[in-house]
Amino acid sequence: MLRDHLGLTGTRIGCDRGECGACTVRLDGNTVYACSQLAVWANGREVSTVEGLADGDQLSPLQQRFVEHDGPQCGFCTSGQLMSASALLDDVPDPTRDQVREGMVGNICRCSNYNRYVEAVLDGASPDTASTQALTKVGTLTPRVDGPERVTGRARYTGDVQLPGMLYARVLRSPHPHARVRRVDTRAAGRLPGVRAVISRDTCDVIWRSGDSRNDRFLFNNPVRFVGDAVAAVAAVDRHSAEEALAAIVVDYEPLEFVLDPEEALRPGTVAIQEGGNLSPNGRGAREPERYERGDLDTGFAASDLILEDDFTSKHINNAQLEPRVSVAQWNGDRLTVWTPTQGISNCQRDLARDLDVPPGDVRVICEYMGGGFGNKNQCQDSDLIAAVLARETDSAVKVEYTRKEDFLGVHGRWPTRQYYRVGATRDSTLQAIDLRGYSGLGPHRKSSGGISGIELFRCPNVRRTVHPTYTNMTVSATFAARRIRRGSGASSR
Ligand code: FES
Ligand code: FES
Repeated sequence: MLRDHLGLTGTRIGCDRGECGACTVRLDGNTVYACSQLAVWANGREVSTVEGLADGDQLSPLQQRFVEHDGPQCGFCTSGQLMSASALLDDVPDPTRDQVREGMVGNICRCSNYNRYVEAVLDGASPDTASTQALTKVGTLTPRVDGPERVTGRARYTGDVQLPGMLYARVLRSPHPHARVRRVDTRAAGRLPGVRAVISRDTCDVIWRSGDSRNDRFLFNNPVRFVGDAVAAVAAVDRHSAEEALAAIVVDYEPLEFVLDPEEALRPGTVAIQEGGNLSPNGRGAREPERYERGDLDTGFAASDLILEDDFTSKHINNAQLEPRVSVAQWNGDRLTVWTPTQGISNCQRDLARDLDVPPGDVRVICEYMGGGFGNKNQCQDSDLIAAVLARETDSAVKVEYTRKEDFLGVHGRWPTRQYYRVGATRDSTLQAIDLRGYSGLGPHRKSSGGISGIELFRCPNVRRTVHPTYTNMTVSATFAARRIRRGSGASSR
């Protein structure tokens, strides 16, 4: 209601299930998660959103402090943080640091700008507000030029883009980790009122090349190789019609054997996820583990007084940027415009042009604001291509929106690993040798290196690293940028 019907897009949707706080508004003065409130419950009551804080172009004192303390980084959580902070200050005009933390505990900031938000609420009240003091080396704090956009809700993220006649798209995803698709029956879905297009592998054979550097990864694959693999997509006049159509698609799956663990995937007799086997070929096409060696391991272990062996497991982790994936596409004749949250405008433009077979000069990619990326939004995503294909099919603008769950399943995260170490050292704690045998789970597609780094952090003359980038039936893995925690810099965890 707020975003679509009233155009109050300053209220963001990060999870749509009462977890993140990006949608926080005030209902009769109290903070609530808008995503967990039915609009009819607000009938006759006062709803305050971030748009109500400023007086025209005049920021409220709290917004001003958010800008001065550089609260918003990507800015996607900022509206919710402001609404929680404003409610707190109405109740407790001079809060302690702990009260501020407590009052804003329901608002997640994936950029980890918590301390800056806390300082902004406290402002100069506390004597230890280090981040408000002038820097001595490079001058003084300089507010971001677009700070006011971010604290007023006026910053336009891709999900805020509305175009005349725009259709809404939804993607049907595999419930199986590995299955052959015998048939996709879209007839009933296509007949539903409001449905403008239904596409699947039967009608769309576009290859998403940045989704896999070694194999042909189609927008819709057969077999499907992980839970969440896209099977079909629908464009309709509104979200409800698109979701209804999705439920009307009948898919006949033949479940296949699957494997989730990268080490297990290399055992003889395990189902092959890609043609040629589960060890992903290197850049030269050879199916061999990636090796790095320096010094002489035998010499190192012979010189060691102590040799330790241990193994470690790291799990798949999603990048979890607060803004879920969304893409809007519109064709004007043969020219394509795509609005998408991307860290790589030109990568995305190049990828779209190549995959859709149009000249790069005919593709325009727009990203005004992006709600965090953390390595997850570097290339063109399948949502960009699906939006473009549906837009061409329907001759209308199309917006593809992923839910938070789809973003976790359908995009990518950091690769899980199994790491076996043998380490030799002398009694004075000097490392003499490190031998690593590692397995990284790529998921069923090679979207990134699957490398395991870290050995070179240690001073050691003799090292060997043998890594097996392996196909599994887990969610796809790729680039992941962790947010560093820097104590005292204002960018640490709350
Ligand atoms: S809590 Fe409502 S969008 Fe996350
Ligand atoms: S600034 Fe909070 S999620 Fe990015």
